[in-house]
Parts: sequence; C-alpha cells; structure tokens
Amino acid sequence: MVADSRQARLEELGLTLWQQRVRSGPPAPAAEPAEPPPSEPAAAGPPESVEMPPMTGSTPPPAPSPDVAAMDWDELAAHLAGCDHRGATRPVFGVGARDADLMIIGEAPGAEEDRRGEPFVGRAGKLLDRMLFAMGRGRTRNAYIANICKFRPPENRDPKAEEVAADRPILERQIELLSPKLIVAVGRVAAQTLLETQAPLGKLRGQVHTYPGRSLPLLVTYHPAYLLRSPQHKNRAWEDLREAMRLLDAAA
Ligand code: URA
Repeated sequence: MVADSRQARLEELGLTLWQQRVRSGPPAPAAEPAEPPPSEPAAAGPPESVEMPPMTGSTPPPAPSPDVAAMDWDELAAHLAGCDHRGATRPVFGVGARDADLMIIGEAPGAEEDRRGEPFVGRAGKLLDRMLFAMGRGRTRNAYIANICKFRPPENRDPKAEEVAADRPILERQIELLSPKLIVAVGRVAAQTLLETQAPLGKLRGQVHTYPGRSLPLLVTYHPAYLLRSPQHKNRAWEDLREAMRLLDAAA
C-alpha cells in the first residue's frame, strides 16, 4: 500500500521514467555529452572544449578567515547579509536541515531565488526537489542546499572568479558547520569550482571525488536546469543519485 502510494507519487512527479529507463538499460550513447551551462541562472559560459587534467583532491580551498571560521549558523547568515550584495536584491544563504548528512551545492541564485532569498526555488529547483524526493529526502528535512555564489550575478551570467572567491569563506564555513557525509555538486560551475578543475562535467560524473582538504566524498551530477532542457539525460542523473544513496547508506 505504502509502496503503491510512493509509486503513484513518483509517477505524478514524472520520476518513474527515470527508473524504468535505468532498469531496462538505456542505450549508451557513443560519447558522454558535455553539459552546457544551466540556463538558470547562468548565461552561456566558456566552451568546455579546453580540457585541463582533473586536480581532484589536490589543493585545499582557502580556509575561512578567523572571524568567519568561528561563526555559528546565525552569525554566518547575519555576516552574509552585511556583505556587498553586488547588485542583488538579497543574499541567498542556504536552506535545509543543519544536521543533514547530504549537502547539495549549486552555482548561484537566479531571479526567483534572488526574489525569495532561498536557493533552487525556480523551475530548476522544483526538479531538484523531485530528485531529492526520489532519494527519500526533502529540502528542509534531511538535506542542505547552498550555492557557490550567494548573490545573483547580474543578467544571470556565470559568476566571476572574484565573486566566487568573495563568497567562498561562507560556503567553507557552511560545510564545516554542517559536516555532511556527502556533497553533491550540481552542474559544471559548482563541480569545477569545488574540485578546482577545468575538466568537463561529463568527465567529473561517475566517480567519487574527495573534497579538497577534507576527507569528504563528493559526487557530481547534472544541473537540474540542464536536465529540464535535456531530459534524455535524466537516467544518468538517476544513476548519480543512486550512487549518492549508496554512499550515504554506507556512511550511516
Ligand atoms: N541554479 C543554481 O545553481 N542555484 C540556484 O539557487 C538556482 C538555480
């Protein structure tokens, strides 16, 4: 009965197709396509053809400055609110359970996130919620969602290096405070930033990385905005989510 209602809910959310495709073994395409940048929130980014060797787990990210490193969640959110908004309406700090074992990290807020002050609340966010649901999770119950960039970049462009650098101490402190068992980076910008690499998303998916400087596993999957435009890749995203569930189960 419970299984029936879960199945019905999954069908309602359009997720059963993913599982059916996975079970029946989708035909593998000849080459892994590179993921273009998500339309939410970023505009077209640099081409992915220039490929650098992955440097996963090499250099630790910059440590939060002493003041930020000592802050608790509320102090950190208040500190962010006092930072330069760089033209955004408001900061988008993060949302979720502050004791979650799973942390989802995206790129930067889009228009809807900028309006509401919460990450992933636009169309892509709805799909992210469905992805979490398929993992038996909810955004406020047992996951924490944050972005690399805490302020919406003007015109939804890709965040600049200096914007990423400015917000990095906040993200680092969030990771420290949460101390998750697993990070899932969604999309190219989040993955490349966290893993300090220029490798394309297609190369970063499908392996368990270690977050630089911490013994913390990190998986990479497609950005939900990309999946909205390229639903044929949902089966691969589902494979990534199943790997995430497996790692979380093993770490429990
Ligand atoms: N895309 C992101 O990467 N983050 C958001 O919060 C919304 C869309």
